[in-house]
Amino acid sequence: MRTIAFVTQKGGAGKSTLASNISVAAQQAGERVFIIDLDPLQSLVKWSEMRGQSDIPVEHVPLTKLSKALDALEKKGVTLVVIDAPGQDSEQSQAAIRAADLCIIPARPNVFDLWASEATRVKVKEAGKEYAFLLNQCPPAQQNARVEQGAKALQAMGGLLAPLVSARVDYQEAARQGLSVGELSPSGVAAVEMRDLWSSVKRRLKKPSTSAARPAQGKSAADKSDATKAAPAKHAAKARKASAKAA
Ligand SMILES: Nc1ncnc2c1ncn2[C@@H]1O[C@H](COP(=O)(O)OP(=O)(O)OP(=O)(O)O)[C@@H](O)[C@H]1O
Ligand SMILES: [Mg+2]
Repeated sequence: MRTIAFVTQKGGAGKSTLASNISVAAQQAGERVFIIDLDPLQSLVKWSEMRGQSDIPVEHVPLTKLSKALDALEKKGVTLVVIDAPGQDSEQSQAAIRAADLCIIPARPNVFDLWASEATRVKVKEAGKEYAFLLNQCPPAQQNARVEQGAKALQAMGGLLAPLVSARVDYQEAARQGLSVGELSPSGVAAVEMRDLWSSVKRRLKKPSTSAARPAQGKSAADKSDATKAAPAKHAAKARKASAKAA
């Protein structure tokens, strides 16, 4: 069983939207998926109620029961747990990070989200966990300087998932109906985007995880990538500069 968590200290970056869509894409690709909604607002519990199907169970789990819940899900044969966390640094987001094999940090291409991504990355690194960034709500014409700068900033901070996710009405309409974009419009561009995204995440999860054995200050695989060979201070400054350009 693998666990991915959508985390960022910024509200509205797209955690719940991406968590629900990637869950359905993964389920359609053969995974047995369970969503744990750690956000007190319980957006995905509500999405599930709207969905009215039990194909992808969604539960709000109290933090004290999270570890036991994960053990039980593994015993039940669940292959993928997707955790949705609230949009701020909180006990819930810390717990999501600790539980995850891979933390996905979504950001919109604006400087506030990029700064929040950097702050979230610090928390994920402190926990010794793997992470990848995801650029969401990009203008559909992706040859946009703001998007390019945002992508560069996130790459400089340690790795960006492909594809970039565009701002599309399908994401909002699917959420409203308790669906994924793949269910709303199976051959639509958003559906393709989410299938490709699941493939990227799956590839990322296949990389041998070192997090269990790694001390809290250990380096993540992303830190060892070519993009991040600069000294940490220089690296952070470079990322901040790139983030500022993205504004
Ligand atoms: N790619 C997208 N295209 C269009 N709309 C999007 C996209 N991603 C997210 N949204 C919309 O942006 C808003 C915020 O998204 P969402 O609720 O998923 O963010 P969040 O990070 O979970 O927020 P919070 O931190 O408050 O839980 C929602 O209205 C959602 O429909
Ligand atoms: Mg949310």
